Amino acid sequence: MSTAATTFVHRLEPGTDAALPPLLLLHGTGGDESDLIPLGRMVAPGATLLSPRGAVLENGMPRFFRRLAEGVFDEEDLRRRTDDLAAFLREMQARHGLAAPVALGFSNGANIAASLLLRQPGLLRGAALLRAMVPYADPPAARLDGTAVLVLSGTADPIVPAANSGRLAAILRDAGAAVTHQALPLGHGLSQMDVALTRDWLQTL
Ligand code: MLT
Repeated sequence: MSTAATTFVHRLEPGTDAALPPLLLLHGTGGDESDLIPLGRMVAPGATLLSPRGAVLENGMPRFFRRLAEGVFDEEDLRRRTDDLAAFLREMQARHGLAAPVALGFSNGANIAASLLLRQPGLLRGAALLRAMVPYADPPAARLDGTAVLVLSGTADPIVPAANSGRLAAILRDAGAAVTHQALPLGHGLSQMDVALTRDWLQTL
């Protein structure tokens, strides 16, 4: 019988420091399970890294859920894929004795991390959302007290309007999460600023 864990190609890189929460690495469109491993190592040396590959293909490019157009999500698919990812995560936690992870998502991966926070509150210890958008037109009500969230947006991001990332931060804050939002003078791509800020934020957890 196939299990949730078999539905996601993934890498699990055991850490050397059991005191650190594991990182759940969620890549952007066209990435794969190896993409964010170097970033994970830079921001949390010694942490266990769990990195699944998105199971949806868009013109051959892996993603975590379907979209109808750029920035327009297939919300039914997003709900289903979010729950699949949650099942995978629970199974990996049980099998490998992993603590609640901190998600580190970029772009499409940050969007499903935001969806995980809202649909599966309590599953993640926290989340660093790099270039994320509000995932639902009508986001589900969630209680996120005790969950830490870092939102790093780019003021020159052509994909995520500044108001959208501000709204995402407000939704998560209203849900009770401890949200740090920084708007960086950047576009959609990541930079050393993202690395440094994410590393510093992780050290505060
Ligand atoms: C998405 O589809 O999740 C966002 O538009 C980000 C992207 O993958 O380009």
